[in-house]
Amino acid sequence: MSTFLKSTVGKKVVVSLSGLFLLTFLGVHLAANLFLLAGPDAYNAATHFMDTNPIIQIMQPVLALGFLLHIFYAVFMELKNRASRPQKYGKRSNEGNSTWASRNMFVLGFIIFFFLVVHIFNFFAKMKFGEMAEVTVGGEVMHDAYGLVAGLFTTDIFTGSHFVFSIFYIFAAVALGLHLHHALWSAFQTIGMSNQIWRKRLSILGDVYAIIIGAGFAIIPLYFLIFA
Ligand code: HEM
Repeated sequence: MSTFLKSTVGKKVVVSLSGLFLLTFLGVHLAANLFLLAGPDAYNAATHFMDTNPIIQIMQPVLALGFLLHIFYAVFMELKNRASRPQKYGKRSNEGNSTWASRNMFVLGFIIFFFLVVHIFNFFAKMKFGEMAEVTVGGEVMHDAYGLVAGLFTTDIFTGSHFVFSIFYIFAAVALGLHLHHALWSAFQTIGMSNQIWRKRLSILGDVYAIIIGAGFAIIPLYFLIFA
């Protein structure tokens, strides 16, 4: 096992499998957050359900491990590739056959990582360790998660402060969409589940999923920017 992980193929497999796992998380996370568009009660109830569900609680450390493995091995491989590449970065010989996103997975990944750190401070840390306002929904007392998110995204064009976060979240959603555009078929190819026919199908499937996730996460701050 340790020999496998030391090999380039082994590292690629870890990046691919952890990436596929994170893709699943993103689908679930987006679905939960789209409840924001249905109003405070719906979102607070959905977040309370996630926060008290034992399966979700067990999955949280697994999720953290998934992110760590994905980031660690992707960074390691990229640095190794750069060290052994003769050309200056940005000038690759196969540029003609590849998309901008596929050539910039590392940069896009870095933007998403930066977003994630800010995001954890914005919401997760406050939900878990901060002083949260409480609301009652259906007779049950719970955190006012809607107030927390809406507070961050509520536009105040004159003072500008919250506007910055909405724009940052939209920018990160676009970067995430571009990262995923290349990720799905590439992951399947690495784990050997792609022939000529499936490569085309998975590429289309990957694009559809990337658009849903990217547009879905962008719609939320946009909604608050326009309507709140
Ligand atoms: C508009 C977009 C988003 C909103 C409104 C949002 C909202 C939230 C909230 C409220 C939490 C805390 C949940 C809790 O503790 O109960 C959270 C946690 C988290 N978010 Fe997001 N999120 C967004 C986008 C993203 C994106 C794009 C990613 C990944 C790239 C992401 C990754 C995470 C992670 C890893 C956690 C911690 C684990 C968890 O609580 O599930 N989020 N998010």
